[in-house]
Amino acid sequence: ARLQTYLCLNDFERAARRRLPRPLFGYIAGASETNASLRYNAEDFDAYAFQPRVLRDVSGRSTATTLLGQTYDAPFGIAPMGISALMAYRGDIRLAEAAKECRIPMIVSGSSLIRMEEIAAAAPGSWFQAYLPGEPDRIDALVERAERAGFPTLVLTVDTAILANRENNVRAGFSTPLRPGLGLAWQGITHPRWTVGTFLRTLALHGVPHFENSYATRGAPIISPSVMRDFGRRDHLNWVHLERIRKRWPRTLVVKGIMHPDDALRAHELGVDGVIVSNHGGRQLDGTMSPLSALPGIVERVGDRTAVMIDGGFRRGTDVIKALALGARFVFVGRPFLYAATVAGSHGVERAVEILQSEIHRNMALLGVSAVGDIQREHIVRRGRA
Ligand code: FNR
Repeated sequence: ARLQTYLCLNDFERAARRRLPRPLFGYIAGASETNASLRYNAEDFDAYAFQPRVLRDVSGRSTATTLLGQTYDAPFGIAPMGISALMAYRGDIRLAEAAKECRIPMIVSGSSLIRMEEIAAAAPGSWFQAYLPGEPDRIDALVERAERAGFPTLVLTVDTAILANRENNVRAGFSTPLRPGLGLAWQGITHPRWTVGTFLRTLALHGVPHFENSYATRGAPIISPSVMRDFGRRDHLNWVHLERIRKRWPRTLVVKGIMHPDDALRAHELGVDGVIVSNHGGRQLDGTMSPLSALPGIVERVGDRTAVMIDGGFRRGTDVIKALALGARFVFVGRPFLYAATVAGSHGVERAVEILQSEIHRNMALLGVSAVGDIQREHIVRRGRA
């Protein structure tokens, strides 16, 4: 019943800000350097306005969406987010279970603190996101592991050759490895619900969290300096490696972090099944254009041949509908779902999904469409122009 007081996705951010220690909230909310891309992601939806159609009998409307051979209940899913289990108790599993319950896809992060096999067993149908280095042996090992775990879709994130300058994390006292100290202890004392419900409960039942799904041979605990070894030779990764991954991975392959039409075309030509247009939620190269503004060019180049998906700044049903009108097949949402998991576990995530889905359902009626596939370019205009 309490969850009914959350009326839109941003309500979960306010609640999570109160509940989480400052460094952890800052890690989720923040981006890189000046946060320019984070702002572009939020603002660029305003570049478009709707031009609704009327008298179209929308009584049979549905948000059901077919993507890559699979039917989902809504045209959005949950983006991969690392170390979620530090924010919410067993966070990745809570997110995956909620997604399964709501029949939408959830992407397990390659930087998660729970073994991919366990998440796949708890919520079959989840996708797996990999970070991979330019090292064939390590590529093969992780790809084979994901295949054995049964994931139907592998998502390769390619916008993270190195980690960006996340000044805000430093200022908020967040680091990997986590450095226990007085500051962190004070945060723990002043945020007891997180400390008891997430942190101590995790320690007591599962021990110190480790990175479990990285390509590093042995998972490193998040308080050990060796976690940074994890990056290894990621900055060596190139198109030849992608070709290798395509040959080794027999199921659906998606590349996340594409921003240029030529890169989308090249991925398509290598046999990739879909791309996620993304600037990593503004967390990598600061000043990168918003995915929404990159979308039309990419759709024009490959939209008829490959599944073009998108993420970054989607908070409203109307945001999702604008991207679909510009030719995206599917949208992923990150931060709000992690906030929802920190506030109320899988029930929180289910409430967040319900909110976004009902916004889309309602707005489709007001726009004059009954099916997600009927949302077209003609339903939006550039603001200020005819
Ligand atoms: C991320 N993102 C991310 N992406 C990825 O491919 N692997 C990862 O492990 C992570 N980790 C991660 C952690 C946190 C806390 C955030 C907020 C984001 C990026 C994520 O998948 C997605 O691209 C953006 O978050 C989408 O933007 P919004 O919806 O958060 O604005």
